Amino acid sequence: MDGKRILLIIGGGIAAYKVPLLIRLIRAEGMQVTPVLTRAGAQFTTPMTVSVLAGEAVHDDLFDISNEAEIGHISLTRNADLVVVAPATADMMAKMANGLADDLASTLLLASNKKVLIAPAMNVRMWNHPATQRNLAMLRDDGILTVGPDRGEMACGEFGAGRMAEPEVIMDAIRDALGGAPALGSGLLKLLPENKVVSGPLSGRHVIVTSGPTHEPIDPVRYIANRSSGAQGAAIAAALRDLGARVSFVTGPATVPPPEGVDVVGVETARQMRDAVQAALPADAAVMAAAVADWRVDNASPSKIKKDGSGNLPVLSFKENPDILAWVSQLTEGRPRLVVGFAAETNDVIANATAKRARKGSDWIVANDVSPATGIMGGTENAVTVIRADGATEWPRMAKDAVARRLADEIATALA
Ligand code: C5P
Repeated sequence: MDGKRILLIIGGGIAAYKVPLLIRLIRAEGMQVTPVLTRAGAQFTTPMTVSVLAGEAVHDDLFDISNEAEIGHISLTRNADLVVVAPATADMMAKMANGLADDLASTLLLASNKKVLIAPAMNVRMWNHPATQRNLAMLRDDGILTVGPDRGEMACGEFGAGRMAEPEVIMDAIRDALGGAPALGSGLLKLLPENKVVSGPLSGRHVIVTSGPTHEPIDPVRYIANRSSGAQGAAIAAALRDLGARVSFVTGPATVPPPEGVDVVGVETARQMRDAVQAALPADAAVMAAAVADWRVDNASPSKIKKDGSGNLPVLSFKENPDILAWVSQLTEGRPRLVVGFAAETNDVIANATAKRARKGSDWIVANDVSPATGIMGGTENAVTVIRADGATEWPRMAKDAVARRLADEIATALA
């Protein structure tokens, strides 16, 4: 890493007090740091501390961005091998996602074509806010790398996801982003196929997600299926991945493609799905979002059933499929610490789902009303009620992605 140059943008948040340590770690690897301090960042760490540790002058906002003579500032990004934003505040992420450039830091970010790594840090409710999560998704789509945030006690006295990743972890992510090997034993980083570095509250956790419909053969060319698209399951797997989890994604033949960065196991029938879940165990949590066929054809034909001209109609007999959710929930050995089931209901949603939770033995049931009037089945939105041992919580109607993120966050809290 010798000789690499990091353009380090220090945002305004209490986590900025950890940035001097990050600068020391970067310098200790033989890298150069060009520090840029936002006006808000200067409230939390001083230009003097930053410049002494970086061994370079601090660039800040005390200049006029519209002045020709200052255009040179833009060239700051040209010499950089990587741009790091730490802490990345909610406001900074919003600006980045929307391409705003109203101060030096945001102008540099917009003018740069270099790889960017952000270490978000903010209050837990700001982090969980749909606007921030939307911005995060946009930034990830733009190829921005993220590290953290961690879950824990916050400076504001609250608890949750939003603490900036520790400087050592950010250092690992920098090394990773520059193409070097992660530090041995860090265990906190996950390198996703598209080179996205993710560490988060679910780092080191393994979660199994089932998704999509199952197909139950009638004969080699015909099957019984259902209308599940697999959209909600795929969104949940992606949200768990984004929090750092290793995800085993066991999916039936869904119409929505599986997310990147998860271990995909494609299956067709309920029995194959059960076997795949069994093979993926042990896990810290299991989320059963698949629409598993309740029955399979008991007298499936090994060859194509022919119309024989006699007018005789084939008669199918059925057999009950294994209930994967009930089986996982009732494992006496190796049961995941948290088992989450789904309940698609068309009437008496809460009563039916509460009974289902008791019958199956899952910890939570995520219930939704799929009666046609709701437009939920096959749509992009969902309105769910989460049933736990201590009662039911109704969530407002929101995008399936947002449901997934909130669920992933609650799973992280439960496993913390
Ligand atoms: O019984 P019902 O199909 O309504 O229950 C829905 C929940 O049970 C979902 O979480 C679904 O993934 C799970 N399930 C299962 N195996 C089955 C049937 C349902 O895992 N055979």
